[in-house]
Amino acid sequence: MIPFGIHRRIPLIRRPFLQRDRALAENAALRARLDDMQSAPEAARATAKPHGDRTRDLKSAYTAQVERTASFVSTSEAMSTSIGGDFDYIGRVEVAVLLRHGLKPGDRVVDVGCGSGRLALPLSSVLTGPYSGFDVVGDLVDYARNLVQRPDWRFEAVDHIGIPEPDGCADVVCFFSVLTHLLHEQSYWYLEEARRVVKPGGTIVVSFLDFEDEEHWSTFAKLVADAKRPDHADPLSVFIGRGALRVWARHLDLEVVEMQGSDFAVADGLYLGQSLCVMRRPL
Ligand SMILES: C[S@@+](CC[C@H](N)C(=O)[O-])C[C@H]1O[C@@H](n2cnc3c(N)ncnc32)[C@H](O)[C@@H]1O
Repeated sequence: MIPFGIHRRIPLIRRPFLQRDRALAENAALRARLDDMQSAPEAARATAKPHGDRTRDLKSAYTAQVERTASFVSTSEAMSTSIGGDFDYIGRVEVAVLLRHGLKPGDRVVDVGCGSGRLALPLSSVLTGPYSGFDVVGDLVDYARNLVQRPDWRFEAVDHIGIPEPDGCADVVCFFSVLTHLLHEQSYWYLEEARRVVKPGGTIVVSFLDFEDEEHWSTFAKLVADAKRPDHADPLSVFIGRGALRVWARHLDLEVVEMQGSDFAVADGLYLGQSLCVMRRPL
């Protein structure tokens, strides 16, 4: 801590370095505290209460939302509304994104956070190759399986973060409006998984709520208002910056092949509503 008043005696050129040194020291202290917590005795950690924390318990927060919605509208409406609505239109746009990035009929597609089948349904008339859809909400997965009627395709509930597929098997791994519900650490973890599962030369598609997209600001303002409500229990909604996605791609050795805002027409008259980041695993 620099005593009050001493700034005047420190040459201007040195001040940014003092600030930097102080910030570095604070970071080191934080890392040390986190290390201490990690090495807490097993018994102390075992007594920690399991939390109903929506930032960690992804499954409960989303499942509760689907159940709440289903309690006051019809099943098909609940299955659409609870994944964002506009079921037919957005499904068509999502297929158009994949086609734009070279999807071929025989490709293998992994749809992470597949929801109630908004992508899978229209994709089923384009894709003859294998498809796997994973989601944390069992009811959504069951609904998608029934709706799509492709016994050769896999629809499966997952618990937290993870893609239960072998290394290098997929031509496309997509996350349509999924990282929008995760902490950045969890999103990065999922991208690590996608990097593992996608073939060299394969494609990873992410749609996201974008700090750099003016159209998304009103959504962020709404999230701020929600955050102030004491009874707020909705699943997380999380914004990402394009810069963050570029940094993640660099650390994962992925090439960013497309980055677009919501004003971008994916195909004639088709808009996703979210921003789009497409990455490729190098050959
Ligand atoms: C806005 S919906 C989008 C659904 C689908 N991708 C689409 O575009 O129609 C977000 C989906 O992500 C799922 N989800 C949330 N956290 C997840 C996680 N950790 N792993 C897999 N799916 C998750 C939710 O259950 C929900 O179905």
